[in-house]
Amino acid sequence: MQQFSVDLNKCGTMVLDVLTLIKAEYDPTLSFRRSCREGICGICAMNINGVNTLACLTKVKESPKPIVLYPLPHAYIIRDLIPDLSHFLKQYEEIDPFLKRPGEENFIGLRQILQSPKDRKRLDGLYDCILCGCCTFACPPYWWLGEKFLGPASLLLAYRWIVDSRDMGHKERLTKLRDYYSVYRCHTIFNCTKTCPKGLNPGKAIAQIKRLLAGLTKKKKPEMDTSLPNPCHGDEIYPCRKE
Ligand code: SF4
Ligand code: SF4
Ligand code: FES
Repeated sequence: MQQFSVDLNKCGTMVLDVLTLIKAEYDPTLSFRRSCREGICGICAMNINGVNTLACLTKVKESPKPIVLYPLPHAYIIRDLIPDLSHFLKQYEEIDPFLKRPGEENFIGLRQILQSPKDRKRLDGLYDCILCGCCTFACPPYWWLGEKFLGPASLLLAYRWIVDSRDMGHKERLTKLRDYYSVYRCHTIFNCTKTCPKGLNPGKAIAQIKRLLAGLTKKKKPEMDTSLPNPCHGDEIYPCRKE
């Protein structure tokens, strides 16, 4: 651990600004990740005073007590505040984070797929996830079983695709999750929900996946159907952009 005293008049108001100043003026070797500096890219996630959150959204308060910074807990560390996210991102890949419409592969991206406002609303609180990892690295079962348990971030995003009215792969998605570890190591402790800097509720999304897996609830039928031929009255190539 190293301690720095910083003149807050020389930098912006957020923890990320202080880190940038330390790197510029005190220790150029200090390493951390940052990009958007406005809570969108998710890459500045770290543990600040015991809470996993985003450095660019955390205000610095003047205080005689030091601000204590650690990298995300229980992650392998590459250097300083930089965790190794390879396994975390591989797990995200495992949930197939893309639209599935079996039999329509040649049309994806080439035609509109309609969605009613009500169906679209189901994605609120899900599509907003920025994959920062604060929740996953705050989850005790993930600390111990992260090799096999997918963790709250990937599971919230898995649920985002399962409930999307435009996606037709929900059965296959659920089958992939139906094992001892992927979902069921979640014990509904809700550390994930408590720490999410975007105010999302991964714990609830996981509980909904469990309900679907147990057959207690079913995916709602889409209110708007977009069966082939598509409603743009186009043909094989770029049907929606023809005119
Ligand atoms: S659910 Fe929240 S904490 Fe978890 S990855 Fe998404 S934005 Fe980050
Ligand atoms: S609710 Fe589940 S995923 Fe969230 S912290 Fe608890 S055990 Fe982990
Ligand atoms: S720098 Fe992008 S979320 Fe903090």
